[in-house]
Amino acid sequence: MTEEQLRETASQLRQPHGEGAIAIAGFMNKGNARMNEDALRVLSASPGDNILEVGMGNGYFVKDILQADDSIHYTGADFSAEMVLAAEEWNADWIHKGKAVFVHASAESLPLDNELFHKILTVNTLYFWDDREKVLSEFRRVLKPGGRLYIAIRPERRMVHYPFTKYGFRLYSAEDVRDLLAANGFDVEHTHEHREPDYEVNGERIPVENLVVVAVKR
Ligand SMILES: C[S@@+](CC[C@H](N)C(=O)[O-])C[C@H]1O[C@@H](n2cnc3c(N)ncnc32)[C@H](O)[C@@H]1O
Repeated sequence: MTEEQLRETASQLRQPHGEGAIAIAGFMNKGNARMNEDALRVLSASPGDNILEVGMGNGYFVKDILQADDSIHYTGADFSAEMVLAAEEWNADWIHKGKAVFVHASAESLPLDNELFHKILTVNTLYFWDDREKVLSEFRRVLKPGGRLYIAIRPERRMVHYPFTKYGFRLYSAEDVRDLLAANGFDVEHTHEHREPDYEVNGERIPVENLVVVAVKR
């Protein structure tokens, strides 16, 4: 890829837009399938849960949350208008049944009431938060007392091998995420580290890994 293509890929991953939005969403669904599966296992959606996901992309994995139990409610928020529309299309049946809603909003300013959610999930978005303190303050505001936050990322030591991450990604180790959460009103409960099958590019094997950090609102 040329530097221009890498820059465009990074920009689409941050906020899918325009003609490239649907294609990048398909790419993410494939490349992040295992990671989303790992994150949802940790999230462990339970009967009665009211769950917010921030940055759900095209909402391809929403079914895996809602299928767990009929009494679960899901809200997805994303600041890409294209992704909100795509998620509404993918999940039209769940919306119709009153189990899912999608909002076009930034994590920094969520148009949602206080203390609504038992759990907040966010997968592959932390790299893009411009105002991290504001995002975490919004998450604390909309979480119920004792609510939990689940942040899934690929750690810095792996992400540095992806050439597009030099264009606007902020990278984190597990310790960086824990420190960020501890400094912003969360008690970190657990860090789950998952190895995924290696990624092979031009004959080179790149190790793939994801982290899911679980924290409770203090
Ligand atoms: C890299 S994609 C990840 C999509 C999906 N979660 C996955 O793991 O495949 C990042 C998504 O989060 C959204 N996003 C990034 N930063 C955001 C923010 N500050 N507020 C709301 N949505 C955000 C983007 O629009 C995009 O849909």
